[in-house]
Amino acid sequence: MLSLLRPLLAVCVYLLLPGGQSWIPWYSNGFHYQDISNSNGNGNGEIYFNGIRLHVESPQPSVSATRGSSVTLPCHYHYEPELTTPRRTRVKWSWVPANPILPPASPEAFTRETEVMVAMGNRHRSYGSFRGRVRLRRSAPGDMSLVINELQLNDTGRYRCEVIDGLEDESVTVELELQGVVFPYYSQKGRYHFNFFAAQQACQDQDATLATFEQLFTAWEEGLDWCNAGWLVDGTVQYPITVPRHSCGGMNLAPGLRSYGQRHRLFHHYDAFCFSAAIKGTVYYLKHPTGLNFTEAVQACAHDGSQIAKVGQLYAAWGLMGLDRCDGGWLADRSVRYPITRARANCGPPEPGVRSFGFPPPYLKFGVYCYR
Ligand SMILES: *[C@@H]1O[C@H](CO)[C@@H](O)[C@H](O)[C@H]1NC(C)=O
Ligand SMILES: *[C@@H]1O[C@H](CO)[C@@H](O)[C@H](O)[C@H]1NC(C)=O
Repeated sequence: MLSLLRPLLAVCVYLLLPGGQSWIPWYSNGFHYQDISNSNGNGNGEIYFNGIRLHVESPQPSVSATRGSSVTLPCHYHYEPELTTPRRTRVKWSWVPANPILPPASPEAFTRETEVMVAMGNRHRSYGSFRGRVRLRRSAPGDMSLVINELQLNDTGRYRCEVIDGLEDESVTVELELQGVVFPYYSQKGRYHFNFFAAQQACQDQDATLATFEQLFTAWEEGLDWCNAGWLVDGTVQYPITVPRHSCGGMNLAPGLRSYGQRHRLFHHYDAFCFSAAIKGTVYYLKHPTGLNFTEAVQACAHDGSQIAKVGQLYAAWGLMGLDRCDGGWLADRSVRYPITRARANCGPPEPGVRSFGFPPPYLKFGVYCYR
């Protein structure tokens, strides 16, 4: 009895949903009505009456990849018990981006699920920034794994694989993460100068994005301790503390992420936590016998067939490729920094890190970090 009711309930639920949601057209093409009218035991509809179930599974709830590479988000379906005749199934991949593009003051943009790809039989269609970059793997019957090429920083998020067979609709989600490095970033104009949008732009200018909570949490687990609050991509403001101390939220709190919660994106000002992922090229130090001022540093990289490196590129080279150099060098934002992976005497604190001289006057002479 229950199995007889399920299709009807499903139809009612679909009709009750408000319009304007991206996945509604999926159900409004008559596909499922056809199912009901055909439920005479020789095709569609049989699935309910015989107690056959659609199962959708992913062996990996989360997948980690590098920027620029191809990644496969696994998703398979099968029927139980197994079917003797093939059925028409549709597949839809959608996602909730970790880094949404936000119209000002619209928190709901954070949770909106948008389409990545829909497929039926051999026909498929991809959407938005995924157009031409995604396909279904189809390495075996029921394999609906999504292959994404040329991964970008902003492809991270929660992906949903939804398999639709007439009235039956099962889905599974897969988290896509990028391997990378979180770094605190503040303005040339000083501390606590960024509203949310300026922070977003500042990270982008340094070949990075605002970090997600998960990225900052992982960085904290790996030892990041930073006593200045910064924006995260979800509009909250937080800072990571591994060694509690008076000047950083007090001694009474356990180590962890200290959160100020959601702040006003336009009117409140903080630093930023940026996230940088693997780079295609290399970052190297360009030495000069007498040192270079900032203008000369930019030109020196250009003469060397490269570009002055961005802060995100230096962090990626340090964190993912082990760049180690005990010489301060200019970077594109006019800061001077150097990357240390093997801490040693006369190269700053006893732990690895990217050391910063802040933003010195541009006439001072240093080497330069270039990116090619
Ligand atoms: C993601 O990043 C790429 C490259 O930086 C950019 O071209 C694209 O517009 C971004 N897409 C979204 C949805 O933010
Ligand atoms: C850097 O030095 C050049 C001369 O080599 C000079 O023309 C330029 O103004 C200097 N730039 C800065 C920012 O001091």
